[in-house]
Amino acid sequence: MDDLHGSYSNGAGGNSTLVDPAVYTPLRTAQSISGFSKTREPMDNYPTPDIATLSLMAREDFAGVVWEPACGSGAIARHFPGCIASDIRENNIFGEVGVDFLNETRKVNHIVTNPPYRLAQQFVEHALNCVDGKVAMLCKLAFLEGKSRYSLFQRHPIKTVYVFSKRLPLTKEGDTRKQSSMIPFAWFVWEKGYTGKTSVEWILAGDDSESPCSDVCQ
Ligand SMILES: C[S@@+](CC[C@H](N)C(=O)[O-])C[C@H]1O[C@@H](n2cnc3c(N)ncnc32)[C@H](O)[C@@H]1O
Repeated sequence: MDDLHGSYSNGAGGNSTLVDPAVYTPLRTAQSISGFSKTREPMDNYPTPDIATLSLMAREDFAGVVWEPACGSGAIARHFPGCIASDIRENNIFGEVGVDFLNETRKVNHIVTNPPYRLAQQFVEHALNCVDGKVAMLCKLAFLEGKSRYSLFQRHPIKTVYVFSKRLPLTKEGDTRKQSSMIPFAWFVWEKGYTGKTSVEWILAGDDSESPCSDVCQ
């Protein structure tokens, strides 16, 4: 499906009717992912800008069954027709609702998501047990740091890190008002069984591009 206002079939028999996100959550101030204040979105719902997903799809093939296990309003999932989409929120407006990914054991070819940031490492570890293909996670660039993640990267080397050279505008519940982006993000891509070195590539796309497709391949 390519319209947030229509209805979506998640490929697993589920169907959800979507609402206009602009109506769904009125906001007084834009809140970016950099905020760790009282107003931080409790479920970490910071929808992925289209440019981020399109940039990944221009570089990586995801033939087969794709699962977006923390789909929020479907910002990523709607780019993968027929993909499985789920989210822990009972009142979610897209895909299967009330599904805690960390307790879900289905097998798919690929998992693509922008995980809740405080659970990002657990999401990666669990996702690698669910796929026979790729795991692509949009995480803060700082995900590269950290002792426990060092261990993860030793056991499961990342195949490619795609760094966004222009920062992505991730805002609470997708608030579209202009907002400077403080946090650098990257796609982290694993391929099941990969044991080689990690490559780093840069994507010159993002920010508030008027046409999400115009600079996908720069
Ligand atoms: C950063 S938002 C990203 C939403 C969507 N992936 C996107 O890219 O627009 C994180 C999402 O994870 C969901 N979430 C949080 N914990 C979860 C869990 N344990 N299992 C499944 N979804 C979860 C939240 O409800 C929220 O929709």
